[in-house]
Amino acid sequence: MAHILSLPVVGHDIVYLLCTVSLGAILVHLVPYIMDSRGLRAYPGPFLAKFTDVWLGLTIFSNTWSETIDNLHKKHGMSNSARHRISYLDINQLKGAFIRIGPNYVSIADPAALPLIYGHSSGALKASFYDAFSNFEHANIFSTRSRADHARKRRVESQMFALKNVRSLESTTRVHFGKFMSQWDELCKCIKGSTSEGTMGSSKWTVKDGRVWFNCMIWFSFWSFDTISDLACGSPFGMIAAAKDETWVAKYPRGEVKTLEKSAFEMVKISVINVLAAGFEINSVLGFLPSFWWPLAKWHPRIREGNAASAKLAGLSIASVSKRLENSDAREDMLQSLLEGRDEDGNPMGPDEVAAEALGLIIAGADTIANTSCATVFYLGRHLDVQAKLQAELDDALACVDSEVAPYEAVKDLPYLDAVINEVLRLHSTVGAGLPRIVPEGGLNVLGQTLKEGTWVSVPLFSVHRSVEIWGENAGEFVPERWIDMGAEPKAEMMRAFAPFSIGPRACIGRNLAIMQLHIMVATIFRRYSFVVEGDGPLLVQDSLVRKPQECVVGIKRRVL
Ligand code: HEM
Repeated sequence: MAHILSLPVVGHDIVYLLCTVSLGAILVHLVPYIMDSRGLRAYPGPFLAKFTDVWLGLTIFSNTWSETIDNLHKKHGMSNSARHRISYLDINQLKGAFIRIGPNYVSIADPAALPLIYGHSSGALKASFYDAFSNFEHANIFSTRSRADHARKRRVESQMFALKNVRSLESTTRVHFGKFMSQWDELCKCIKGSTSEGTMGSSKWTVKDGRVWFNCMIWFSFWSFDTISDLACGSPFGMIAAAKDETWVAKYPRGEVKTLEKSAFEMVKISVINVLAAGFEINSVLGFLPSFWWPLAKWHPRIREGNAASAKLAGLSIASVSKRLENSDAREDMLQSLLEGRDEDGNPMGPDEVAAEALGLIIAGADTIANTSCATVFYLGRHLDVQAKLQAELDDALACVDSEVAPYEAVKDLPYLDAVINEVLRLHSTVGAGLPRIVPEGGLNVLGQTLKEGTWVSVPLFSVHRSVEIWGENAGEFVPERWIDMGAEPKAEMMRAFAPFSIGPRACIGRNLAIMQLHIMVATIFRRYSFVVEGDGPLLVQDSLVRKPQECVVGIKRRVL
């Protein structure tokens, strides 16, 4: 009897609680909009984004980050022509260069904003978005928001990426190019075999029309992960040889890593490439949500999965570092530089920080190169005229070279190869999203607009790389010639709008390594094989912080040289 009597009371309480929570949620989002303390109400943007960051989170979740932002700028009439910039004094004249994509977040699609936001004298620091990318107690060089912490890490790590040192890494990287090609040569042998389909490791292949067909994306990932794990921690994951996305990692319960002794961890096997993709997507979503949303968001199965992925990635670095530390005759690798690095007081990095940095290098250095290589094959497999022109240049340049892997010295200054790589970096935009920064104390004046301290700002690289005003009517097309057939002035304007590695103090530290790897890879595979891409659809990508091709099925055969 008593429990029957109490039911309406419980029901009443729940209704009361729900009303209070809803009212609270509305007020939390409505009051800042009405107060408009940073003066952002005048900027156009999606309705929901004016009130909540959930709009951006959902956009990333729907896998359309770069394209949605680009479409918004276009919808509101993006104009980033340097010729008109002088008249950007009135908000009505901004014509979509400024879009509000969150309650406190403005996207600016104008290349002139790049140095103002990311340049050395801007003073804008990384936004709390990057906190979601820390897999350890310590932030790494990519995720740290502290200027002092970043400067210390960058001092230690910039040595290893200096051009001279990067060139000395070539011999190590060549081993992996060689293994990669041997596997593709094996696949090519299937063309004359007795069966028309099969698998090599986890890579499925079929034979038709005199070619062997397979998803090349997974192979570029095998190659880039093996290479970077070798460069960073002295041994490859072994993915090329196994043709499988499988690696041993430490089973890591979250918390600070106190030791890197291998015996301290239980080991498990995981699919690193899949785990990384899941982790990146979810970190990007969580990064934009205020932290009070996190516990709620973690009820979503994809977010839970992505969150678990982050812990597995931490285990990857712990396993790699601890294995390397057990090896007493390891050669000079990046880990050595991390271990030898000291702060101003002469203190070395602790185990947690070393593991965090090693993971940062592996993640930043593997996925980006794999995605760009895959996009290159996609565009050249679609533009057979460009492929033929590149092959002619390579045949000429490598005719007297007695090595199957192109030496960097022989291909580093080939104009058409350079143009192809630049065009892929522009059109694909491996990092396509705007990289969020916080307006520093005193505010920032950007193109005549004063942005108040604390406002989040970014320049979407994907949009700037496809602006018709800069790149012409064919901005959305793959035309490497645009990098060659042009005068000095238009080229200088193009270069100001070309920032695939970002600019300023937080620009890519691995740029020299990336450029070397891409030149060798593109020169080597296009000299050796001919490519066509299956179907005629676009290259579908997972559009998180990096634009990762989901799949790219190609038909290849050996060229007759
Ligand atoms: C095509 C290849 C690559 C592209 C397009 C690329 C692009 C970028 C971009 C745009 C940033 C700035 C990120 C931000 O501000 O949030 C960045 C940062 C970074 N990249 Fe790369 N990257 C590439 C390859 C590499 C490689 C090979 C490495 C070497 C391991 C590397 C290591 C890093 C690191 C450590 C940072 C953080 C730098 C800092 O904050 O000081 N990247 N990269």
